[in-house]
Order: sequence, then structure tokens, then C-alpha cells
Amino acid sequence: MKNPIRKRTIMRRKKYHLKCVNCGTTTPTFGKWLKQNQKCPNCGSTYSEIWYGSDYRKLEKIFKGPATSFWMYFDFLPLYMRRNIVSFYEGASPVEKWSFLEEYAKNKYNLDIEVFAYRNDLNGGTGTFKDVAASLAASIFKERRVKQYCIASTGNTATAYAKYLSKAGVNCSVFMPEDSLITSQAFINSYGQRVFKVMGDYAKAKSVANEYAKEHNVLISSGNTDPIRIEAKKTMVFEWLRQIGKLPDVYIQAVSGGTGPLAIDKGIRELSEVRPDLHLPRFILVQSDGCDPMVQAWEKAEAAGFPEGWEKDYPILDNPQTMVPTLATGNPASYPIIAKLVKRSNGSFVRMNEKKLVSVGKLIAYEQKVIPGPASAVCVAGFFLALKQGKIKNGDSVMVNIGEGATRAPRFVEQMIYTTQEVSSAKDCEPHNISDFREQLWNDLIS
Ligand SMILES: Cc1ncc(COP(=O)(O)O)c(C=O)c1O
Ligand SMILES: [Zn+2]
Repeated sequence: MKNPIRKRTIMRRKKYHLKCVNCGTTTPTFGKWLKQNQKCPNCGSTYSEIWYGSDYRKLEKIFKGPATSFWMYFDFLPLYMRRNIVSFYEGASPVEKWSFLEEYAKNKYNLDIEVFAYRNDLNGGTGTFKDVAASLAASIFKERRVKQYCIASTGNTATAYAKYLSKAGVNCSVFMPEDSLITSQAFINSYGQRVFKVMGDYAKAKSVANEYAKEHNVLISSGNTDPIRIEAKKTMVFEWLRQIGKLPDVYIQAVSGGTGPLAIDKGIRELSEVRPDLHLPRFILVQSDGCDPMVQAWEKAEAAGFPEGWEKDYPILDNPQTMVPTLATGNPASYPIIAKLVKRSNGSFVRMNEKKLVSVGKLIAYEQKVIPGPASAVCVAGFFLALKQGKIKNGDSVMVNIGEGATRAPRFVEQMIYTTQEVSSAKDCEPHNISDFREQLWNDLIS
């Protein structure tokens, strides 16, 4: 008689494996991967991808089932037991049609386009697009009995990891740059996780975190190619197929390190057998002029006609001064990988003016009744710039990633006050007409 326990063990082992992107060496499980210090045992690269034995034809059935979180894609995530799932209902975020942006494109540029917004601000965990990675990380750590972890972050990743890891009973030390938002620190503290506020910029916080990890033998997030982050975010591709039945022609995101585009590419490659028709959206990645090393590098390469090795040439900005500390990666070590992908997608990097940030925020709140966080306002500003620069074509469908909401940055919301009048009696008060504000809000943005 067959031994059912043995059979189950074999099946589990076959669910997935990691494969080094550099040399192809495989690592059978996450347990091994963590023991190897998240490195390829052959070449030492930290960039491995996960491949599954699961049948992707199942996806169509999953699409028709209930959608409470990205864990509906369990068969395509590197966890063995459902009982280890740590979730706050993240990753089944709505994709909405934002018709005010479609109308603007039609009226101003005579373009017929579709504009979708991916509402990651509605994620159940901490209301950002970092929640899916935190959920997957917490679940893997629970399964692997990891008890200590550390991470350097500008804010949103750390907030998400702090919450999910504490739910999983994992201690998470967070290294944040000096200028990070006080609200992010407060959230992390409130979950009981330790914040080390590092005197210096994000690059300094990363370096202190790395030293700490070595000194105390604690696992540390391996950055933008971390398979945990990529696997969680690749479910974006599944979600778009589930919700709108296609991938967009253009994908717009505020960029700091750039895990999002890498994950979308991975998701598409994973589906290549069952959906050979899918192609990469053109990536339009947006940075604000307060911290724009990727845009600077891209513009230089473009002007020179992308000479040999162009992707390795990028500036390092020390202590970038920006209103959006969440995006303040002055040393974009992942640029060579991201930039090549952007090039392959026929996309580009664009720079927005920080002075316009509040105007963009006010407009979205007025037209759509969604108050974006500053990083989301950077993203939507990128949409307007892409239109102006002719990067969006007639017939395109565009996806803007609303990666965070206003709870992340109360100070940003406070700057949106514009209708308040100080009064001392009813004589000073007149009824108002909401549509009177529209023209000014659009003018502020376009001027
Ligand atoms: C809302 C939001 N948008 C965009 C980004 C940039 O993401 P990435 O670091 O993957 O480029 C972040 C990063 O913290 C973010 O929180
Ligand atoms: Zn290798």
C-alpha cells in the first residue's frame, strides 16, 4: 500500500523551486534559500526566480471564484500550507475606470483611451501596494519559523512588514532614513516593532541595516529582486486578467526601487504557456524632481542613443531633498535591471515637478473622490506628462497604480484645504456650488 504521508511530502516538495537568474542553479525550497542567506549556492547572486509545477489552466476557474485576497492564487505562491497564511485581505484591490482622465485625453489631445486605476490604497493591511509582499513574507516566515527579520525602508514597505510580521509573531527591526514620515514611524512603533532611525539618507539606512544583519545573524530583505516581493506583486497580472480580462498597453507607476515592473514581467513570463498572447505593457515610471536619479540616467542614455553599457551609467544623489520621502532612493542600485526592462517595453522614465503634487492630489480628490497619498499623486502626474509628451497613443488602455492613500501622509492632506472660510456669524456664509471649484483646480494643474 502506498504511504499517503510520503506522497504528500513529495507533492509539497514539487510545488515550486527557485532558479538563479544569473547561472540557472536551482534551490528546492524557501527553507533552503533562507539558510543559504538568500543567495545562489553557485554564483552568490541574490536574484533567483520562483517557478511552479502548478497547472496555470486552473487560473480561469480561480477567476470565477470568490476574491477576498491575493491568496486565491495560493497554487502560484511559494507557501506549502494554507494554515500559515497571514492575511488582512490584501491584493484583490479593485481596478476602476477613471473617466475624468479619459475625458481629459479626449478633450485636450483628441485621444480615445481607457484609463484604469489599480486601487492598492484599499488594501486591508496598511493601505499600500506593499501589503501583498508583507503578507507573503509573514506567511513564509511563519512556515519556516523565522523569528527575527530586518528591513531598510523609506516607509511603506516597513509599515506593511511591521504589521504583518508582528501578526506572525516575527520580530522586525526597521531601519529608516532620518527624513522618513513621522506617521510611518508611529505606525511601526504601535505594532510593537523597533524602528532604528538612521541619521542620514536611505542609502545610509540600508548600509546600517546590512551591518546589523551581519552582526546579529538576522535575515534581511534582499531588495528589489527579493523573490518574496516579486512573487507577491506578480499577482497584479493575474488580477488585471481577472478584473478587466486583459493587460493594459501602458502601465504607470511612481518608482523608487522598481519591484513593480519586474514583477509584472515575471507574471507575464509565468503565464507564457497558457497565454502566449500577453505582452509587456509600456512601462512609464515616474520620479519627482526632488529625487530623480533614474530619470537623469535615462535622459542621458536617450540623448546619446543608448550606447553600449548605458544602463550601468546612473548618478547617485546624496541626501535627496524631497516632499515624498517614500520615493527617496538616491542610489538606485536596481536601475540597470529596471532600465533594460523599460527599454524592452518601449516605455520610459518621466520627471514630475513636486510643486504640482498638491494640485494633482486636490484634482483627484475632487473629480474621483479618492484622496491619494503623495506617491500616488506622483504616479498620476506621470499620466498627464505622458499625454503631453505623446507617450500615450490613440486606442491605448492605461493602468495607473494608486499605490497608497492619504492615511500614509496626513500632512499632505492638510495641504489640500481650499474651501474653508473663517466666519463669525451666519451673515458671512453663503451656499456654494461645488462645480465652481472645477476650473481653478484644472488650471492649477495645467498652468
Ligand atoms: C505608494 C508607492 N508608490 C511607489 C513606490 C515605489 O515602489 P518601488 O520601490 O517598488 O519602486 C512606493 C515605495 O515605497 C510606494 O509606497
Ligand atoms: Zn547563480
